Amino acid sequence: MNSNVRPESMLRINTKELADNFINEQVALIKKQVGDKKVLLALSGGVDSSVVAALLIKAIGKQLVCVHVNHGLMRKGESEQVIEVFRNQMNANLIYIDATDRYLDKLKGVSEPEKKRKIIGEEFIRIFEEEARKLEGIEFLAQGTIYPDILESDGVKAHHNVGGLPEDLKFELVEPVKLLFKDEVRVVGRALGLPASMVDRQPFPGPGLGVRCLGAITRDRLNALREADAILREEFEISGLAGKVWQYFIAVPDMKSVGVKDGKRYEGWAAIIRAVNTVDAMSATIEEVPYPVLHKITNRITTEVEGINRVLLDLTPKPVGTIEWE
Ligand code: XMP
Repeated sequence: MNSNVRPESMLRINTKELADNFINEQVALIKKQVGDKKVLLALSGGVDSSVVAALLIKAIGKQLVCVHVNHGLMRKGESEQVIEVFRNQMNANLIYIDATDRYLDKLKGVSEPEKKRKIIGEEFIRIFEEEARKLEGIEFLAQGTIYPDILESDGVKAHHNVGGLPEDLKFELVEPVKLLFKDEVRVVGRALGLPASMVDRQPFPGPGLGVRCLGAITRDRLNALREADAILREEFEISGLAGKVWQYFIAVPDMKSVGVKDGKRYEGWAAIIRAVNTVDAMSATIEEVPYPVLHKITNRITTEVEGINRVLLDLTPKPVGTIEWE
């Protein structure tokens, strides 16, 4: 079980039956590993940590303590969904921390992308550490490590970042999906009863909207980005693109242009649409979004979102452009 190598004989989990077998097996293993001790989990709301949470809740119920840190850089409705699904529906032991002000204060005036990422990552460790110290009797740390993380690195997810906890906070790791590929994690998530909107979620970077609110983040521009992104997601759902396109989002640069609204001069930011397809995120191609869909999105964003007066489409494949702008 502790081996980090996927056995040749392991079947690809692609049916409910195989998922149920995996779940039963893991529930037994988790119970055996953890006993009556407590387990801590950083629950971002992404696919991997959500599936790990659901597995652990099934195995050990309230012995699992989930910590959800809202860094204020989540997409619209995301933290609310984590609370609804895990606290209200699954009756989980969930600590919700709204750290929006803490993050945005730290990020104020910081425009350099690497610096922004560093601040976001470090602040997460600090908050997680503070919470871990408040709790008593935690001996285990659960992580949503999946097989590609092991193949690509030392198995510690950069965006979970709990690998950076101080030496005196030593936990034994619980990593029930570490031998699974992403598609298998989704099948297991579905079998555990997680909502499709959570299981089929597109990839979302750890630093969240922070790397899409380009340059120095301000609250008004971040809000505009969040609203525009919600409209894009809604329209991709309606047009059926959501199930087809690998990743799609809005980026908002720190630059205004002149426009006209209600007969008056209106200076606003541009919302840039990015919609890409890829297999492994190493290279990516551009989705050819139909013009009627683009017109509708443009119309909605420019009329519904305060502060935005133009909508642009990013046509750059990777390479040369990376998927994210920062
Ligand atoms: P790039 O921009 O390098 O992105 O082409 C490739 C994929 O990785 C995602 N991404 C991240 N994921 N933490 C993450 O967990 C990060 O810091 C991060 N940065 C980029 C990006 O969204 C794309 O899917």
